[in-house]
Amino acid sequence: MNQHNFPRHVAIIMDGNGRWAISQGKQRIEGHAQGAHSVRQVVETCRKIGIRYLTLYAFSTENWERPPAEVEALMGLFLKYLESEQENFLKNDIRLRAVGDLSRLPEAVQLSLKGMLDATAHCSSLDLCLALSYGGRSEIVHAAKQIVRDVQKGLIQDPDSISENDIASRLYAPDIPDPDLLIRTSNEVRVSNFLLWQIAYSEIVISEKFWPEFDESEFMKCLEVYAGRDRRFGRTQNTSESSRELSSDEVGHSSAS
Ligand code: IPE
Ligand code: IPE
Ligand code: MG
Repeated sequence: MNQHNFPRHVAIIMDGNGRWAISQGKQRIEGHAQGAHSVRQVVETCRKIGIRYLTLYAFSTENWERPPAEVEALMGLFLKYLESEQENFLKNDIRLRAVGDLSRLPEAVQLSLKGMLDATAHCSSLDLCLALSYGGRSEIVHAAKQIVRDVQKGLIQDPDSISENDIASRLYAPDIPDPDLLIRTSNEVRVSNFLLWQIAYSEIVISEKFWPEFDESEFMKCLEVYAGRDRRFGRTQNTSESSRELSSDEVGHSSAS
């Protein structure tokens, strides 16, 4: 695989922790704990091969409806993960980012997150973006609210002047390019409210592995499938060479190079 064909931004729906645990005769929460090892492997691989952005779906707005004990255990694991990774992130020049309705997270998680976001803000080799308490629909509502505020301030006057970029620029992390590759594990074929706006032209790869079994080798297989895809962005060009020739302006907010 040619490094030229690596995606710039990979987004992952880390699914199947519970089913992995049950298959091993363990409690669901043990699957979540094991999932942290897969996170470490994928982050390390991204850093090693030079992927610039990685977004991980860790907790959805809908996941708040799970049994309170599971939600509480997950929050404890997020805290543990954040606290254990600071040194590693700094050493490897990894900038932590977070998207979602973070105000719903327990205070301890918010504080730890804020500490890590600040401490790693200068890092620039990999942006690791955690989607926490995240919903794609909520994110679009958030952008719509910002637009209404700007209308009230008189910054936007003509409704016909509103463009796709006016929405894209008001999403949670507008500087992060759209994902080139979206991976979902555990053989589920659905989007589950993840990055609804940003995945308009992402390539989707489904892995049969449960998230706790997802390792560097499975990740590389997904990247190979991606490298073989012909991205056309609605155009007629049918070679990856020609799709790479499209400038980022021509393909909207997406990154074709
Ligand atoms: C993904 O694993 C982790 C979260 C959604 C927090 P699941 O907990 O959804 O595992 P399954 O899908 O029930 O196996
Ligand atoms: C999606 O997985 C959310 C995360 C991976 C954080 P879910 O397990 O919550 O999604 P559904 O319920 O199977 O669609
Ligand atoms: Mg699931």
